[in-house]
Amino acid sequence: MNESTVYDCSIIELSRHHSERKGSLTVVENSRTVPFDIKRVYYIYDVPGGANRGGHAHREQYRMIVAVCGSFSVTLDDGSVKRTFLLNHPYQGLLVTPGIWNTLDDFSSGAVCMVLASDVYIEEEYVRDYDAFLALKNQLKNS
Ligand code: TYD
Repeated sequence: MNESTVYDCSIIELSRHHSERKGSLTVVENSRTVPFDIKRVYYIYDVPGGANRGGHAHREQYRMIVAVCGSFSVTLDDGSVKRTFLLNHPYQGLLVTPGIWNTLDDFSSGAVCMVLASDVYIEEEYVRDYDAFLALKNQLKNS
């Protein structure tokens, strides 16, 4: 866990190769597009209307979240400030640093959320309890 704030998280504009005839293509490359090496890709889909995803923070991992299809909102919370981003373009990625609580909601029908992560899945690396998250952030602030 680190002291990062929601202002360390931002939308990255991805490349977009567009052709009227053939459509569009977007590329993501290790280190060049994202400031970390991508070790894992997962995607979330078939989210029922009104459902939320996320509701946790990562201690170590960086992630980039992309709405490859449809739209949804991502709310980031550093324990002091919350910021909500609407993701609705496949050529934009939201970079999320470690130590940020995130919640995804308002999924449109058919939305697909792709997540690029800096490491493999490690359950112990998650903080899934909000009060524990706040306690960790406070500890960091006071240390
Ligand atoms: P979770 O991280 O809680 O999903 P979300 O943040 O979207 O709400 O994961 C849901 C389930 O999937 C949980 O049982 C753990 C499992 N999972 C893996 O096995 N590997 C992974 O890489 C991820 C992201 C989740």
